Amino acid sequence: EKGGYDHFMLKEIYEQPSAISDTYRGRMRVAEGIIKMAGIDDNLAKLLNAKRIIIIACGTSWHAGLVAEYIFEELVRIPVEVEYASEFRYRNPVIHADDVVIAISQSGETADTMAAIKLAKENRAFVFGVCNVVGSSISRETHAGAYTHAGPEIGVASTKAFTTQITVLALIALKLAERKGTISNSSFHYYLQELERIPEKVKAALESNEHIKYIADTYKNAKNFLYLGRGYNFPVALEGALKLKEISYIHAEGYPAAEMKHGPIALIDEQMPVVVIATKKGHYEKVVSNIQEIKSRKGKIIGIVTEGDVTVKELADHVIEIPETEEFLTPLLTTIPLQLLSYHIAVMLDKNVDQPRNLAKSVTVE
Ligand code: M6R
Repeated sequence: EKGGYDHFMLKEIYEQPSAISDTYRGRMRVAEGIIKMAGIDDNLAKLLNAKRIIIIACGTSWHAGLVAEYIFEELVRIPVEVEYASEFRYRNPVIHADDVVIAISQSGETADTMAAIKLAKENRAFVFGVCNVVGSSISRETHAGAYTHAGPEIGVASTKAFTTQITVLALIALKLAERKGTISNSSFHYYLQELERIPEKVKAALESNEHIKYIADTYKNAKNFLYLGRGYNFPVALEGALKLKEISYIHAEGYPAAEMKHGPIALIDEQMPVVVIATKKGHYEKVVSNIQEIKSRKGKIIGIVTEGDVTVKELADHVIEIPETEEFLTPLLTTIPLQLLSYHIAVMLDKNVDQPRNLAKSVTVE
């Protein structure tokens, strides 16, 4: 059942190339330049006329929502708010009938997300679900939706659900952007081609596994980790830190790289590994100067860089390369080494990777 892998988590990490292509297959027709998604096509006017999009989710799904915020605002130019379902539902939020609410949930059973959906519906918002589990409670409660088609995710730590959520949300954003005319026709076609190439590039990213294992071995006894990223990769930093926390029980924090100087930089010394997402397109120079700040305080730097990078390679203690892609698609690649890093550290520390203590796969309590 684990398909020859030691753990479901590792199997699910390796399934990502096929999970991502399963997610866009049948929806994205690259040659024709068409994205067909029933839940979107049937509600196109509502989505195109949305004054605002509110994304509600928990945990890793909330991180996918944050990535989607950056993608939607950039490509579709609709303002987006991303809320923890638990905060949203308890604070009498302002919801209008012309708001579109997108609820993201792998299991489709998360209690807080479900309650937030009901609240949004009571306030007459249109609620769209992005779920993985077919026929789940959330997929039934929402007005319309799109499944991620990632296949069953057994490991408590979410991996392929995250990357397929981003894939679905990117497809939706591309479709709306094309309809709204907020991106050019040629960009639209180019982005479809780039998305189609992502599974191959995820495969290439997975090839760093042995090198990542070595890095995991080097830092497995660290007490704290910091994860930094900017723009599209800020949520990936949060996700990398969450992955490490939940399965290895090492304290980790994710931060937008520029926020470091507003506090967390005080933590940095020679004991502190800092994972920095420093890909070519995402404010590269700024991230390089963040790396210099860490280095001058003797922090240990693990850089996630674009293939062929030279600048970060010279500064960092270790680099992990990922293939180049469009900036808004980089989270689909930068996430991969962070999943593997947390996986190997947890295995080396002899933790229960698939069923970490105190955690359940679906959180049906409030
Ligand atoms: O099933 P959901 O996507 O609604 O679950 C939300 C969170 O409970 C979930 O993402 C959790 O944070 C994972 N264990 C993260 O790996």
